[in-house]
Amino acid sequence: MHDTSQQPFGGPIAVAGARHLATVWRLGEAAFADRGIDGPTLRALFRAPDVWTLVAEAERLIGFAMVRVQAAQAELLAVAVAPAARRSGWGRRLVQAALALAARRGARRVRLDVADGHPAVHLFRALGFVPEPGPLARYPGGQPALSMVRPLQIGESP
Ligand SMILES: CC(C)(COP(=O)(O)OP(=O)(O)OC[C@H]1O[C@@H](n2cnc3c(N)ncnc32)[C@H](O)[C@@H]1OP(=O)(O)O)[C@@H](O)C(=O)NCCC(=O)NCCS
Repeated sequence: MHDTSQQPFGGPIAVAGARHLATVWRLGEAAFADRGIDGPTLRALFRAPDVWTLVAEAERLIGFAMVRVQAAQAELLAVAVAPAARRSGWGRRLVQAALALAARRGARRVRLDVADGHPAVHLFRALGFVPEPGPLARYPGGQPALSMVRPLQIGESP
């Protein structure tokens, strides 16, 4: 699903098409190897009817974000930026685009899991996410995962 849309979503950020699967797989596998998230898992998410993948692309894939939208609830499943493009604001822009897409599709709250202590926690805090109270979950690789949540506004802009 979503593989013919190529809708623009702010600058070079767009909804992914089928041709992006291989590069999303490669970048995602490298970015999440330590958390036990592999290519087949990413492919299943990429193809799921309730999951939207946004890509930032110039000549090559810069990064991607995946968000699941189920009625009023959204879950930010993954955000990854190619190592050479990090610390240039792409992670922030991809998350903002994913939040805007989720809000546009009716979600009013978004949650995510992030490796406890990971630098991305700063990114998510800066974008308004707060830790959810309660015990930490675990990634398939066993690492502790911090759950964070954020409300979504109707006019959320990317
Ligand atoms: C996390 C990730 C997506 C961030 O992408 P990015 O494009 O570098 O992020 P941005 O440039 O938009 O950074 C936004 C803010 O996040 C924080 N941040 C991002 N990476 C950081 C790092 N390595 N150390 C400290 N803070 C960091 C900073 O506050 C940064 O703002 P600043 O640059 O003005 O200080 C990228 O490092 C990545 O792909 N990591 C591997 C995959 C992953 O762990 N994803 C997150 C869990 S789903």
